[in-house]
Amino acid sequence: MKHVVESQQFDRKILGQLFSMADKLEKKTGTPLKGKIMAALFYEPSTRTRFSFESAMLRLGGSVITTENAKEFSSAAKGETLEDSIRVINNYVDVIVMRHYEQGASARAATVSEVPLINAGDGAGQHPTQALLDLYTIKKELGKIDDISIAFIGDLKNGRTIRSLSYLLGKYKNIKIYFVSPHVLKVGDDIKSYLEEHRIDYTETADLDTVISKVDVLYVTRVQKERFKSEEEYQKLKGCYQIDEKLVKRMRTKSIIMHPLPRVDEILPEVDKSKKAIYFKQTHYGLLIRMALLKYLLGA
Ligand code: CP
Repeated sequence: MKHVVESQQFDRKILGQLFSMADKLEKKTGTPLKGKIMAALFYEPSTRTRFSFESAMLRLGGSVITTENAKEFSSAAKGETLEDSIRVINNYVDVIVMRHYEQGASARAATVSEVPLINAGDGAGQHPTQALLDLYTIKKELGKIDDISIAFIGDLKNGRTIRSLSYLLGKYKNIKIYFVSPHVLKVGDDIKSYLEEHRIDYTETADLDTVISKVDVLYVTRVQKERFKSEEEYQKLKGCYQIDEKLVKRMRTKSIIMHPLPRVDEILPEVDKSKKAIYFKQTHYGLLIRMALLKYLLGA
C-alpha cells in the first residue's frame, strides 16, 4: 500500500499488523523516522487529525511542515491546482497528510504524488485514518471486533467517519449495524450496497429508543453544519438526538460510547463522567494508530 485514500484498502491482516504496532508504540517509540519530513496540508479545519499526525511524526523522531488553512494561505488562493501543489510539495517531504473540502480530492492528489499521500478527510467522502482509530478503540475497549453490534447515530448522510468505519466493519464477522438518523440524514446507498455485498446485517431507523439497549457501541456523530446549503436547514436538524445520563443508564453494562469529535450538543457534558464515555480516550488511540501508520508507510 503506497497511499491511504479509502478504508476499503485495508484487509484484516494489515489491520492486525497496525494494531500490534500501535500496542508496541504505546510502550516505546524510539526514533525510526529520524530524517523524514511530513507535510500536513489542511484545506479544512481540524484539531485532532492534524495535531495527532504532527505529534505522531515528532514522537517518532521525524519533522513536520504544515499549513492549517491551505485554502487561503497556500498558492491555492492564487489559483494553483491541487495536482500542481502536490507535485511541488513532493520535492520537500517524504509523506503528505491532506484534508480537503472536496470529495475525491485525495484520490486526485494520490494520482500525481510520488510520496505516500494520506487522506485526512475529503469533504463528505472518507476519513480512513479515523476509521482505523475507531476500530482500534473498539478492539482495545471491547477486546474484540467480530460479534459486536453498533449503532451509528446522527448525520449519516454527511458523516465521512460513518462511511469509512462501515467499510472496515464489513471485513469482520457477525456484525450488526443500526443506522439511526432522521429521514433526510439517512446513510448513503453506497454504504448499504457494500454491506449487503459483504452480508453485514443492518437496520435503518429514526428511533434511538428501540436501539439503545441492544448495542455494544453507540457511535454518535454531530450534524455537519458545514455541509448544509442553508443555516435554516441546519437549525431544523441540529439537536435531533441528544445522549444524556438517563439514556446511558439503559445501555448494556459493558457497552461504550464513541464519537469522532468535535461534539456540539449531541452528547451532554453530564455523560462525560460515565465509564462508557470513551470519546476522549479514542483520541489517544488515534495518536498511536497514526504513529503505526506513518511507520508502516515509510517502511521504518
Ligand atoms: N475527528 C476529527 O477528524 O476531528 P478533527 O476535525 O478535529 O480533525
